[in-house]
Amino acid sequence: MRKRILTGERPTGPLHLGHYVGSLANRVKLQEQYDTFIIVADVQALTTNFDRPERLSEDVRRAALDNIAAGLDPEKVVMFVQSLVPGIAELTVFFSMLVTVNRLRHNPTIKSEAATLGYTDLTYGFLGYPVSQAADILFCRADLVPVGEDQLPHIEMARFVAGRFNELYGRIFPEPEALVSRIPRLVGTDGSAKMSKSIGNCIYLSDPPAEVREKVMSAVTDPARIHKTDPGHPEICTIAAYHRAFDPEESPSVEESCRAGTTGCVACKKRMVEVLEALLSPIRERSTLYEKPGVIDEILIEGTRKACREAEETLEMVRGAMRIDYFKGRSR
Ligand code: TRP
Repeated sequence: MRKRILTGERPTGPLHLGHYVGSLANRVKLQEQYDTFIIVADVQALTTNFDRPERLSEDVRRAALDNIAAGLDPEKVVMFVQSLVPGIAELTVFFSMLVTVNRLRHNPTIKSEAATLGYTDLTYGFLGYPVSQAADILFCRADLVPVGEDQLPHIEMARFVAGRFNELYGRIFPEPEALVSRIPRLVGTDGSAKMSKSIGNCIYLSDPPAEVREKVMSAVTDPARIHKTDPGHPEICTIAAYHRAFDPEESPSVEESCRAGTTGCVACKKRMVEVLEALLSPIRERSTLYEKPGVIDEILIEGTRKACREAEETLEMVRGAMRIDYFKGRSR
């Protein structure tokens, strides 16, 4: 049997090139080799956006559309909405008995997110979302979880929960392994270390060509380079980083002519616009195809139905193992 992977993201807005480099491109490859589940983690988005739920219905569809536009094939992957799989919520409750508050409080990702968001007192839902994420992963008994480095503490939590459950009640869950993306994080167009919606330095997969062009042409390069003939420093240049990420074959020669002062920033940027257009135009085409009314909804409804069936199979085993299947065989 093929191994199973589960991954996904919180729907918090359109996906950008940082997502593409860090996870989408890899997912597109993995779908050929693994049984793939993609979660649109709307409940987890609520842990920080509980006061803005009105954005979710658009963001959920956008996350799904961007994944498919990037190349995930709805015929191959199961793409589903977290909140619509009751088994995930049920597992979260059972798993919450296995995890102490101290373990959650020591989770480095929770700590750094709380610090960034300025939370001084954490909600139960925010502190506990790694338990819910363990349920996201374990409901379908995933073997592998492709994620970025920041998610490792959560995968560790899922492994802990699986191990503890198995030890207490009997072997049901595989201990999932992280498949960590080693690709360096993509810098923003302003040169800051991370492309991030909150900083406003993103090139979105859904940006029209004129916008991509405008963003690339005004991106921060080497500030010491005023004249084209000044020797450039690709190690501090945003566009050079994009060449490494999106144009790896040509990147060494691009850097060389930058250092030599033979190619200027404008020419280098124009070249990058072309590279990005080659990447983004098929993405835009797929996006146009799938953004017709109802198409994404159908994909999510079908994926969610499959996810619910998986969850129900797992939950039957879980209730049995926990001896809480009191009225087994009778409809509840
Ligand atoms: N925590 C992930 C993020 O912030 C989203 C997520 C939710 C996830 N459930 C998951 C990722 C399960 C991998 C597996 O992007």
